[in-house]
Amino acid sequence: MAVADRERWDARHTVAGAGAPAPPDALRGREHLLPAGGRALDVACGRGTVAAWLARRGFVVDAVDVSPVALAAGAALEPRVRWILADLDAGLPADCAGPYDLIVCQRFRDPRLYPAFTAVLAPGGMLVLTVLSEIDDEPGPFRAVPGELAAAFAGLDVVAHEEGDGAATLIAVTPPAAAPGSPPTPPDPS
Ligand SMILES: C[S@@+](CC[C@H](N)C(=O)[O-])C[C@H]1O[C@@H](n2cnc3c(N)ncnc32)[C@H](O)[C@@H]1O
Repeated sequence: MAVADRERWDARHTVAGAGAPAPPDALRGREHLLPAGGRALDVACGRGTVAAWLARRGFVVDAVDVSPVALAAGAALEPRVRWILADLDAGLPADCAGPYDLIVCQRFRDPRLYPAFTAVLAPGGMLVLTVLSEIDDEPGPFRAVPGELAAAFAGLDVVAHEEGDGAATLIAVTPPAAAPGSPPTPPDPS
């Protein structure tokens, strides 16, 4: 990311008020879908309201953002989160190798990261994504094309997939790992 872009994010986070811990948008009203606990990763966490909420639910949380101002706000909210300053243009940081029981990424879209999300999810882990979408809105470089999330994560089991009003949401879980000694999955007869 260019220095000017990071400074622009810092400025936005400076004027924004302190947030309160809050669940991911996609899970509001369906918090029961959350894994019971474990390790969580919040990608492009902003001022950390989601990361803080997860930490208070008992998750061990890593939260990544490029803005030191955002991370400082997050640290003031919840010191138990591991706040990680990194530019996601270079991919997930090396020390975010997982495995994670939950990955949240909302209001940030970088399709180059999609394979990395799958790679660091634990067996049975949950992915919760909300991105801007072209659907019911203008096309643009920051917006997902129709079906983008479903196609990118076709190998996961979809819990919820919604597109409309300029947003796309995916909640999906990795298939559990086969137990040692369990029989191989029979071929699909179709
Ligand atoms: C719209 S905010 C969303 C913040 C948070 N996920 C939320 O839902 O409130 C987008 C965030 O992405 C961060 N960001 C943008 N580009 C980034 C990059 N290349 N690497 C890391 N963080 C980035 C910004 O600093 C900002 O906090």
